[in-house]
Amino acid sequence: ETLTLVQAGRDHVWSCASCHGAAGEGTATTPRLAGQLSDYLLKQLVDFRDGTRDNAHMIYVAKALDEDEMHELANYYAQIRLPSRVGPRLDGDLERGRQITHEGDWKRNVPACVQCHGSGAEGVEPSFPVLAGQQPEYTFSQLAQWHAGARGNSPQQLMDKISQAMTPEDMRAVADYLATL
Ligand code: HEM
Ligand code: HEM
Repeated sequence: ETLTLVQAGRDHVWSCASCHGAAGEGTATTPRLAGQLSDYLLKQLVDFRDGTRDNAHMIYVAKALDEDEMHELANYYAQIRLPSRVGPRLDGDLERGRQITHEGDWKRNVPACVQCHGSGAEGVEPSFPVLAGQQPEYTFSQLAQWHAGARGNSPQQLMDKISQAMTPEDMRAVADYLATL
C-alpha cells in the first residue's frame, strides 16, 4: 500500500516519487523526505490537509490520504538512508552559513540553528527537523516563506521570528552551508 502511493499514487493521478524523487531525495523544487523525522513528516502532512501549511500540490495530495496512510508514508521516508551532502548551489557565503548554524548572530537576534536542530543539524525527535543535507533551494524557500509570513505552522512562531531576523544573503548562506553537511 505504501509503496503503491509512493510509486503510483492514487488512481495514478500522482505519486510521491514523481515530485520527490524515486528514493525521496528531493529536487531543486521539492524537499528531500528521505531520513527526515517521521513525527515531523506526519505533522506536515496533517498541516497541509488542515490548511495550516499552504502549498497547492501538497494540499491536494494530503487531502487524498487517510491517517493510516500518512503514518505509513512518514515511517517509510524516515527510514530511508541516503548519502548526505547534496552540495551548495545558491552561491551563498559558506563561512557565514557555518557561523549562523553553529554560533548564531546575537547582534541580529539570530540564534544558532544547532540549539534546536541538533549539534550537526541532524534533527531532534520529535519536533525539530533534520536540516543537514536538505536541498538548498528548499531550505532557502522555507526561510523566505517564514520571513514573508507565508508559512504559518511553526510552533510558537519560532521559525517566523528567526527568519524575520535574517537577511536574504544570510538565508542563502545558511541554506548552502546546511547542504554541505
Ligand atoms: C513538501 C510529502 C507528493 C510537491 C512535502 C512535505 C512532505 C511531503 C512531508 C514537507 C516536507 C518538509 O517540511 O520538509 C509528500 C508525500 C507525497 C507527496 C508523502 C505522496 C503521498 C507530492 C507531489 C508533489 C509534491 C505529487 C508535486 C505535484 C511538494 C512540494 C513541497 C512538498 C513542492 C514543498 C512545499 C513548500 O514549498 O512548502 N511533501 N509529498 N509532493 N511536496 Fe510533497
Ligand atoms: C523548522 C531552519 C533555528 C525550531 C525549520 C525548517 C528550516 C529551519 C529550514 C523547515 C524544515 C523543513 O521544512 O523541512 C532553521 C535555521 C535556523 C533555525 C536556518 C538557525 C538560523 C531554530 C531554532 C529553533 C527552531 C533555534 C528553536 C528555538 C524549529 C521548529 C521547526 C523548524 C520547531 C518545525 C516547524 C514545523 O513544525 O513546521 N527550521 N532553524 N529552529 N525549526 Fe528551525
